[in-house]
Amino acid sequence: MNSQEQGFCGLRVLVSGASSGIGRQIALELIQKGAHTILLGRRKEKLEETAQLSCAPDRAEVCVLDLTRLEDIGPAIGDLAGRLGRLYGLCHCAGVVQTLPLAASKPERVRAMLDLNFMAGLELARAITRRDILSETGGSILWIASIYAHVGAPGQIGYCASKGAITAAVRAMALELASRKVRVNSISPGMVSTDMTDAAASRMSKEQWAHIAALHPLGPGEPRDVARAAAFLLDPDNRWITGADLIIDGGFTLQ
Ligand SMILES: NC(=O)c1ccc[n+]([C@@H]2O[C@H](COP(=O)([O-])OP(=O)(O)OC[C@H]3O[C@@H](n4cnc5c(N)ncnc54)[C@H](OP(=O)(O)O)[C@@H]3O)[C@@H](O)[C@H]2O)c1
Repeated sequence: MNSQEQGFCGLRVLVSGASSGIGRQIALELIQKGAHTILLGRRKEKLEETAQLSCAPDRAEVCVLDLTRLEDIGPAIGDLAGRLGRLYGLCHCAGVVQTLPLAASKPERVRAMLDLNFMAGLELARAITRRDILSETGGSILWIASIYAHVGAPGQIGYCASKGAITAAVRAMALELASRKVRVNSISPGMVSTDMTDAAASRMSKEQWAHIAALHPLGPGEPRDVARAAAFLLDPDNRWITGADLIIDGGFTLQ
């Protein structure tokens, strides 16, 4: 590391969805890069597993929280900061997808996706950027959106809306928080092999699945493909990148 660069050393970053898939890999990458990482999700044993899989479990803190309980988020972040100290970063990776044709897109079902994928991230960002919680040197917020913020798919009206809300809000948030040296970015991944995609695959025929995979010229991605970019965007040394959405999709949206 260049002697002028500080990297993540001594900085605290919270990763939601750190119990599996992309969020787990982002947490592992951040710990490897020296960050003190708060692992957030509902399944304590899976979060502890993430900590154990890391190169430095002493730099991992488990936070069990159901993010659909939006009113619990602020107090939980306040408690964490009180115990551990100020936070530098947030990666909101927790998310859910449900395939719902328009006729099945009832308010409560769409709202469940909007709440976790978007509103919970907003609540986390609101809590972390409180003046008594955010690091005095600034901060970095990263959202995991999706290619479905950019393209449509039948049955994905609610999911597309929840991810499109992220990329739109990132631009406004980046402008609003720039004066406080808080950067806000998002990543829009294509299909990445995780529990989420395994669950989706189990509801499709082999041919349907092979068709989706074939739409990615470089093939489906792995969590690490997203995690490396996530660490890059969160890194305090990349101080001039804000309001960006990085599409990482093996070429899916080029066609
Ligand atoms: N995989 C893909 O192809 C793909 C593509 C584009 C975008 N994405 C996005 O990437 C993110 C991660 O997806 P993934 O594939 O890694 O999925 P995953 O393996 O199913 O992980 C989802 C994560 O969200 C957490 N979560 C779910 N409900 C929660 C709740 N109510 N409160 C707190 N945490 C909750 C889960 O933890 P607990 O169960 O422990 O709560 C889990 O850690 C999602 O936002 C997804 O939309 C995925």
